[in-house]
Amino acid sequence: MECLRVLVTGGAGFIGSHLVKVLLRAGHFVRVLDNFSTGSMDNIVDVARDVEIVVGDVRDYSVVEKCVRGVDVVIHLAALIDVAESIERPDLYFEVNVIGTHNIAKACRGVNVLIFASSSSVYGDPLKIPIPEDHLLSPRSPYAASKAAGEALIQAFSSIYGYRPIILRIFNVYGPKQSRAYAGVVIEFIRRVLRREPPIIYGDGEQTRDFIHISDVIDAIMKAMSIERARGVFNIGSGKAVTINQLAKLILKTLNREDLKPVYAPPRPGDIKHSIADITKSRKILGFEPKISLEEGIKTLISVIANS
Ligand SMILES: NC(=O)c1ccc[n+]([C@@H]2O[C@H](COP(=O)([O-])OP(=O)(O)OC[C@H]3O[C@@H](n4cnc5c(N)ncnc54)[C@H](O)[C@@H]3O)[C@@H](O)[C@H]2O)c1
Repeated sequence: MECLRVLVTGGAGFIGSHLVKVLLRAGHFVRVLDNFSTGSMDNIVDVARDVEIVVGDVRDYSVVEKCVRGVDVVIHLAALIDVAESIERPDLYFEVNVIGTHNIAKACRGVNVLIFASSSSVYGDPLKIPIPEDHLLSPRSPYAASKAAGEALIQAFSSIYGYRPIILRIFNVYGPKQSRAYAGVVIEFIRRVLRREPPIIYGDGEQTRDFIHISDVIDAIMKAMSIERARGVFNIGSGKAVTINQLAKLILKTLNREDLKPVYAPPRPGDIKHSIADITKSRKILGFEPKISLEEGIKTLISVIANS
């Protein structure tokens, strides 16, 4: 594979730090732009010497413009990602996620490819399950709305400047190094059960989610980057539905703690009921095939957490 110059915004975060390592292993030059608000240097310390790290904010256009200069590919992951927090602090989410993405989309004039980490939350409560990419968008939180706005900005600027836009609507990712925000229900349950505390389930637990292992997400990003004919929107999920009750049961069983019964709390505003990806298009165009089952992913995650 050709050596590309890649800018990863949010490269010190959960998805970003895994991605940076895979990009380096593939022989690419990597620059990271991150303000370390939710990300951490610990996540990338082992590769810090091989990466150009810019400590800066995507809200600052002059920084963004400098970082984009001379790169072939931009992978825009930097964002605030907590649905509940976005309801409490909508202005902040607008600034970071919408203005930040506007800055990136605008600064990418000379790049070949811009990959944007969007979210399954843009679909809101779906009318159809599994959810195809052409499903109506119906965001139910400022976070989800900020992702839908980011998508529109990237579509618009890519049509003006001619770069290849890739919008990945990512479902619920889990794996090592995940931050504590909402998306981390798998890791949160594991941590609680390891501390001998029961999982806390918001709502009746019958809501479904589509959990996708971090290594499968990274694989999708790498494929989207290198497949020239890939452009537009792609769902990145496992294509499998799991209820939160089933998830809790699986984690309790794997940890041999079935005596710990889940505790139920009121549903959280902005949460959606069902979320399952239709990955037909990603399979066909990206050759994307999720490899890690939830059972396997949970087992390896438990051993990583237990040994850390
Ligand atoms: N984790 C998931 O389940 C999931 C699902 C769907 C979409 N996504 C999207 O994937 C992307 C990465 O998510 P993640 O789980 O790795 O989150 P994360 O919080 O671990 O990483 C986000 C990174 O962005 C950085 N950042 C935040 N604000 C910034 C700013 N103003 N300027 C520069 N850097 C800033 C943070 O410091 C952090 O390193 C996000 O865009 C998120 O919306 C994640």
